[in-house]
This record gives sequence, C-alpha cells and structure tokens, in this order.
Amino acid sequence: MEMITGAQPGQSSFTLMHDYDDHLKLHHRILAPSLGAPAAPKYQPLIQLESRQLLYDLCHAFQKDSGLMSTDTIYPLLERTQASVILALHYSLRIPRCEDHTLHEIIDIQTKVTHLAANPILPDLIPQLRHLPAFLSPWRRAADKLYATQVDLYMRLFCHGRDSEGWNATKQALLTAEKHTPAGVPDVDLAFTLATSVQGGMETSPRQLLWLFIAALNQPSCVTRAHAVLDDVVGRDRLPLFSDRPKLAFIDAIAHELFRWRPISPGSIPRRADRDDEFQGVKIRKGVTVMANAWAIGRDEKVFDPALGDPQDFIPERWLRQERDEEVTLTTDLPLPVFGQGRRICQGKRVATDGTFMQVASLLWAFDIELAHGEEVDPWAMVVVGFMTMPRDLKFKLRPRGDWVLEVISREWEAAEKRLGTVDDVEK
Ligand code: HEM
Repeated sequence: MEMITGAQPGQSSFTLMHDYDDHLKLHHRILAPSLGAPAAPKYQPLIQLESRQLLYDLCHAFQKDSGLMSTDTIYPLLERTQASVILALHYSLRIPRCEDHTLHEIIDIQTKVTHLAANPILPDLIPQLRHLPAFLSPWRRAADKLYATQVDLYMRLFCHGRDSEGWNATKQALLTAEKHTPAGVPDVDLAFTLATSVQGGMETSPRQLLWLFIAALNQPSCVTRAHAVLDDVVGRDRLPLFSDRPKLAFIDAIAHELFRWRPISPGSIPRRADRDDEFQGVKIRKGVTVMANAWAIGRDEKVFDPALGDPQDFIPERWLRQERDEEVTLTTDLPLPVFGQGRRICQGKRVATDGTFMQVASLLWAFDIELAHGEEVDPWAMVVVGFMTMPRDLKFKLRPRGDWVLEVISREWEAAEKRLGTVDDVEK
C-alpha cells in the first residue's frame, strides 16, 4: 500500500493505513470538526435529503417492476445515497444519479485500492523488492499509475470543495490545518486525508444496510414492531426526521443490532504492535499483526447478556433500556466493535450511525419487505469483498405500505431543497 503513495512503511498518505504517530494525530484533528458530534447539525440535513431521494428512487422502481429487486440491484441505490452524503459533506458535491461519472471514478479507484490492501503482492512479502527502480519493477509502475490517477481525482475533489460556496469538510480541514501547523499542510496531503473518509464511508455503510433486508425477512416480527413505532411517532403524513430520534429508540436499536449481528468487517483492520506488550497474560511482540475480532466481540456473552437473547440471533431489544415508567431508550454502554476501537476507532462512526438510523427509519416507514417467489432466506449466506462481507444475492419485494407512502414521498421530494448551502433548511 505504501508503494502507491511513495511513502515509507507505516507512512501511507491514507489515514487508515498510517501508523499511529504525530502525523496521524494531526490527520485525526483535521477530520474531527467535520465528522464528530459538533458537525451533526450540518450533515444531518444532507442525510435526510439523500434518504428522501432513496425512497423516491425506490418508488419509481416499484412502479416499474412491482418492487421486485435483490440485494445486488438495490446496492447501487444505497451506494449513491451514501456517496452523495459523503461527497456533499466533504466537497459540496451532490450525486443525484447512480450513473454519475465522478461516482464511478471513485468506485473504480476504490475497488483497485481495496483489492491491493486485502491481497498482499510480492513486495509486501519481500520488502526489498519495493526499492527496485520502475523499469525493473512491474509493481512500482502499477503503483505509480494508480497514484497518478488518485492525485488527479482527489485534487479535483479538493479544489471543488475549496472553491464552493458554504461550509464543507475541505474548507474546515484547511482552517484546522492552518491552526495546528503554522507551516501548513500540503494540499495533496489534505486531499488524501479527506479521501480516506470518502473511501471509508462509501464502501461500508451501503454493505451494512443490505443486512437490514435479510434481518427483516428472517425476523418479520421486528418489522411489525418498527411499523407500529413509526406510525405512532411519525404518522403517515410526513417522513421521519432526526428530531423524531429520541422517540425512535427501537429504530436505533435495529441499526445498532445490524452492526453487531453482521459486522461487515468481521476481522476489522489489521494493526501492527509498535512495541512489546502484554494483554491478560498474552505476550505481544513488537511488529506482530493484531486483529480485533469484531465478530467474536459482538458475541461475547459477558458483554451481550444471553438472557436478552442468543447473541447469534438478530434481537434489537438487547439495545433497549427502560427504567420503571420512563420511556424506552437506547443503551449507550454496549460496544460497536465493527468501528474498531481505541485511538484507531473509525473517525466517521457518528456519520455512519446517524446515516444508518435515518435510512432504516425511512425504509421501514415506507415499505413492507417480502421474499420473492421461490426464494429462501439464509442469514448465513454471505460473500467476501476485500476486507468486507455482504449478504449473498437474494431477491425480495419492497411494497409501499399504502397509497399514502407514494403521495408523501412525491410531495416531500418535490418540496425538498436540493441546492447545497441551503439544504440545512430541510427540517425547518
Ligand atoms: C458502516 C459504516 C462504517 C464502518 C463499519 C467503518 C469501519 C471502520 C473501521 C473498522 C476502521 C478501522 C478501525 C481500526 O483500525 O481499528 C475505520 C476507520 C476509518 N473510518 Fe470508518 N467505517 C464506517 C463508516 C465511515 C464513514 C461514514 C466515514 C467518514 C465519513 C469513515 C471514516 C473513517 C476514517 C477516516 C478512518 C481512519 C481512522 C484511522 O485510521 O485512525 N468511516 N472505519
């Protein structure tokens, strides 16, 4: 991976691949103001807008094919939704169509980088090969070509963000970098830091959301309860909003259970120990690879009480708490290991959990989820893509819960403010 950006071992320009040192801490500081809780009022309206377009696109699909789709055919719609949130947040760039050229440029580069990261090549195993000159090294030539493509794309995105009107993460990163480093951070370094979030955010959330359809088909009682909660809190005259969230703990619980039940990166991102250490009697030598097993952590019976249900099963109720006559709330003391841990925890965890909440709320508000004729749900059927897993393709139907669904979605979508910079009026 370091070969791509011409960096020394552990010094890749991708935040995700960089060792934990002062340089990485600076990257984190640069990203925090646009991805953390203080930025939520700025990005949540974008999430609402894109969730509305997702519903609008799905209603069109319903009118065309009676709602028949599959995890493979719905994926590009989920990917567009997430890409548009992330690109608008980072660069003030909306992606209104799945066919968008920039979206496909990003997907193309992302596929190549993820493939390389997940499938070590010879110079990863024999480090001396990294130093061969380009004319002797097919790996160096391929890495240089990919790097040039990345610089071209990430710098175009960076310039778009820098030169656009209104707030975005690029402008925020420039301000934060200036504050923390008087000498400034080179533009290309900032461009790669921002692009790490684009890659981290776009490939993950849509794959995680695919499990909603499998969970819903496997545990239909969850959908029945979700529909009752949404009817009670949101009603049938408007779409869900972030301001409904405190009363939609069950919907948040579904989102959290999806992350626990089917963590899309079950082995997390491999890390290297930077010194000799010992954990609970296990000696860890400097330089060894450590993997946090998100799958097993999410099934640890000391943490996820089996009295609330078998940890192998999808049971959103394990995330709910109720004190005497008080309202049901989401518990905040259970881990979400799919986002990593400690100082290397996912910087976009808040954006990801907010987005998943809104998409789960919107999809369940609008649709009944039915298995297509002749299909069977197997919640264990999954495929591996790079570091991630996703459900094996399954056909199902999304049927609007009534005529009111199509009417509300069309009305709200037509009235929605789609110009960036004024999108934060959506909830008013
Ligand atoms: C379901 C969605 C997501 C999942 C499951 C996920 C998971 C992860 C994981 C496992 C890591 C590595 C943690 C480690 O090394 O221990 C990571 C890192 C990261 N993620 Fe996410 N992520 C998601 C969404 C997002 C989003 C939406 C963004 C940005 C908007 C984002 C930005 C980042 C960044 C910048 C890092 C690098 C942090 C570092 O290297 O220190 N992620 N993510």
